[in-house]
Amino acid sequence: MAGGSVQLVGLEKRFAEVLAVDSIDLEIGAGEFFSLLGPSGCGKTTTLRLVAGFERPTAGQILIDGVDAADTPPHKRPVSTVFQSYALFPHMTVGENVAFGLKYQNATKSEMADRVGKALELVQLSGLDKRKPSQLSGGQQQRVALARSLVLNPSVLLLDEPLGALDAKLRKALQVELKTLQEEIGITFIYVTHDQEEALTMSDRLAVMNHGRVEQLGTPAEVYEEPTTEYIADFLGSSNLMNGEVVGHDNGACIVNLGGLRLRAGAGRTDAQGAVSLCIRPERVLLGGTGANDLPGVVDRVVYKGPLLEVLVHVDGIGELQAVVPNHGDGAGPSRGSRIALGFPPEALRVLA
Ligand SMILES: Nc1ncnc2c1ncn2[C@@H]1O[C@H](COP(=O)(O)OP(=O)(O)O)[C@@H](O)[C@H]1O
Ligand SMILES: [Mg+2]
Repeated sequence: MAGGSVQLVGLEKRFAEVLAVDSIDLEIGAGEFFSLLGPSGCGKTTTLRLVAGFERPTAGQILIDGVDAADTPPHKRPVSTVFQSYALFPHMTVGENVAFGLKYQNATKSEMADRVGKALELVQLSGLDKRKPSQLSGGQQQRVALARSLVLNPSVLLLDEPLGALDAKLRKALQVELKTLQEEIGITFIYVTHDQEEALTMSDRLAVMNHGRVEQLGTPAEVYEEPTTEYIADFLGSSNLMNGEVVGHDNGACIVNLGGLRLRAGAGRTDAQGAVSLCIRPERVLLGGTGANDLPGVVDRVVYKGPLLEVLVHVDGIGELQAVVPNHGDGAGPSRGSRIALGFPPEALRVLA
């Protein structure tokens, strides 16, 4: 199997008054693990269904390996879809479920048996082909659904929240498994999820969607470390957001007034003027301050998270800010009500336009 490339050009899908997909341009490379991430209703499934051919675009184009797919029906496209609801046939065995899609391909009986065996091996279900879906765990059922798609030798696999129905521990294990599988077989994955951690863990690149549009595109590290809008900063992980006013520029940094206090911000749109918001990840805030770029606060609450402590600090004129520190197992962190400085390394403090 080899990966296919997918190009979306000005792709649009309108349902009556709802613009589900609003002029999307994307180039997904052959062999890439690409995710569409966003909250429920932002147009992820519709985008995937357009690529699969289950929906027709109202405008724009889909190119698969450079060829316009407009006139190619779903079963003739080199793509296959894995749904969240496994949609397995309950009366058929695992083997029969996986073989089902091959009925429409001209494969001999022994060819079919061979391909089914290989697909089951890929998803680590060898030996379970005689079972019925009801005799499998949720994770195993999802693997059968995956095998049923893989047996068709697609060059692009479309996955719509495939792990959504599984519990947290199993999800994590399957995330790693899926990623490994994708690397092994080298086909292109387009993966839809509303789970930011899942998208960060698995993707080579991801597109964060908002109301049918791509709001930011990049590698997990780019999108997490360099969010360009408040929406992204807030949706991906947690962020401290503060509103202020630019009062000057100095050596590539931006000086921002926040209710009478000044901070130096060295990342993002440091050339901005006027009203801006500043963003910093809780794990980049230095509890205790740095002596340079600090704000004074009072500890509101310390939330125990196991490996981490989340410290909520009230800063007069700004509100509640969050710092995350490793739990060294030596107690509860700073005590509630105590005065504490929060330090903001300029390179971690981003100006959003
Ligand atoms: N068949 C349909 N008819 C009408 N509206 C639809 C249809 N499918 C999706 N929508 C609407 O399009 C928008 C995007 O939906 P969807 O692509 O399912 O989002 P997501 O998968 O991100 O949750 C939503 O507002 C949804 O209600
Ligand atoms: Mg959906």
